[in-house]
Amino acid sequence: MPTIRDVAREAGVSVGTVSKVLNGRRVRPSTREKVEKAIKKLKYRPQMVSAGLLDQSPTIGLVIPSVSNPFFAALARFVEDEASRHGYMVLLCNTDRDPDKEKRYLKLLFEKWVAGIIVFAPLTTAADVEPIIERGIPIVAIEHRFAGSDADLISIDNAKGMKEAVRHLAGLQHRRIALVTGPLSRPCNQERLHAFQQELRALGIEPNPQYLRESSFEYEGGYHITWELLHLDPSPTAIILGNDLMAMGAMNAAHDKGLSVPADVSIIGFDDIPAAAQSRPRLTTVKQSIAEVGAEAVRLVLRREAERPVQLPTFTTELIVRESTGPCRDVLVDARVGR
Ligand code: RIB
Repeated sequence: MPTIRDVAREAGVSVGTVSKVLNGRRVRPSTREKVEKAIKKLKYRPQMVSAGLLDQSPTIGLVIPSVSNPFFAALARFVEDEASRHGYMVLLCNTDRDPDKEKRYLKLLFEKWVAGIIVFAPLTTAADVEPIIERGIPIVAIEHRFAGSDADLISIDNAKGMKEAVRHLAGLQHRRIALVTGPLSRPCNQERLHAFQQELRALGIEPNPQYLRESSFEYEGGYHITWELLHLDPSPTAIILGNDLMAMGAMNAAHDKGLSVPADVSIIGFDDIPAAAQSRPRLTTVKQSIAEVGAEAVRLVLRREAERPVQLPTFTTELIVRESTGPCRDVLVDARVGR
């Protein structure tokens, strides 16, 4: 493992000058450039010295929007598992979808010279990650590409799962199907909305604009919008929510309105967080392979660090049918009265 002395020797400067560069103190731009070049060439990680971590525990930074969303909690778990399997520690940065926090965390990770960064941060821009890429720190984005940057990207096939969800509901004779998306500023939600509309049309159902809503990715968003949808006349007989947290809110909104899921209204989520299999009724949802995505993100960082070739994956999604979806109530009523 290279030391600060090796860097100084390689750059042809004193150890004190390397230390000044590392601590962000004033040095001539040409000197800074020489030191940074040497650091990159030797793959020197100064954090181990400053934090007294000479036990060889290099660190990967993980930037996520919401640690209280079980999807991201699960992702962090799987990233951590895979990282520690390879002897790496994880520095978890929770941004609360605040662009300033997101920028400050990226700066912190940059300054700490972490071994690599995994970013599930929809607000990050190419400008934010440029210095990181230039320094040669591997950076892997999950789901959201930073426009204009060539950071590695792990993509999720949002359309496949959404189309399966729509087909499943149509197969249960639902025609009045609503979709509550997460924020449409995020490409994953645009993809899910697009797939929803496309599949409805392919099945000969024209999407009803009143049934297309946008909300936050939070439980409360799912609850409030479902409450509104259930007060429409006619109300939808099935609702797809942008994530499982929103779907939990939707199931409670239906319950509070005195409706039963799925007898009165079918509900589908997206993600397959652990609680989806534990709720009552158990939630039908579009599964994302959170475990595989987390592990693959770590492996990509490590391959880049070792300068080995990488292949950027697209992870599939899959509908998991549980108890929150059932036959459309209108069809059952019609059948009972012999219409
Ligand atoms: O619940 C978190 C959601 O935000 C997931 O659906 C994920 O894909 C993300 O964008």
